[in-house]
Amino acid sequence: MLKFDVITIFPDIFKGFVEESLLARGQAKKLIKINLHNLRKWANDKHQTVDDRPFGGGPGMVMKVEPIMKAVKAVSSKTSKKTKVILFSPRGKKFNQEMAKKWAKLDQVVFICGRYEGVDERVADYLADEVVSIGDYVLNGGEVAAMIVMEAVSRLVPGFIAKKESAEKFDHAQFTRPEQLVIGKKKISVPKVLLSGDHKKIEEWRDGHK
Ligand code: ADE
Repeated sequence: MLKFDVITIFPDIFKGFVEESLLARGQAKKLIKINLHNLRKWANDKHQTVDDRPFGGGPGMVMKVEPIMKAVKAVSSKTSKKTKVILFSPRGKKFNQEMAKKWAKLDQVVFICGRYEGVDERVADYLADEVVSIGDYVLNGGEVAAMIVMEAVSRLVPGFIAKKESAEKFDHAQFTRPEQLVIGKKKISVPKVLLSGDHKKIEEWRDGHK
């Protein structure tokens, strides 16, 4: 079983996603397990503060290192070495399918979801194994990134997707009924080759329409 441990100040953002999607089925089948952790649990004051002003000044707040350090320690596997700690940041290495494949073989992936204007750099330097971005744009935080990565990785856990060959297919163009459709003034037909029954030709057409 692959365990995901998500450290976030917004665990509720994940609720529908993990309870309603294929991820719910994956959990029911005990192929994956998603644990949501509220970072504030590891804050050490009565206001449960997890951010502070940046040294050197400037606008915005920075997520503090100690609560994250305690959280990572508390949730990290004490028995398995096949585990990774990922910090989400727009400054990280771009996530791709190769990374998803590697992580699907682990026992545990811990996600640290950054928020606010940044995270104390010691989290990236000393606590995370990798800093990961899901693309060249800036989100409000790492929560959506964590959902995307969890979904891409879970699909590659054996048994998660019933048809193994579907799990990694970068889809080609597809059509289903009706064979003909009127859109505006145009009558559109699906490509004839797909109705030909000639499997070799169909494969060739699909290769050309990825
Ligand atoms: N946090 C904010 N923007 C992000 C991005 N593009 N990828 C991962 N985490 C982020």
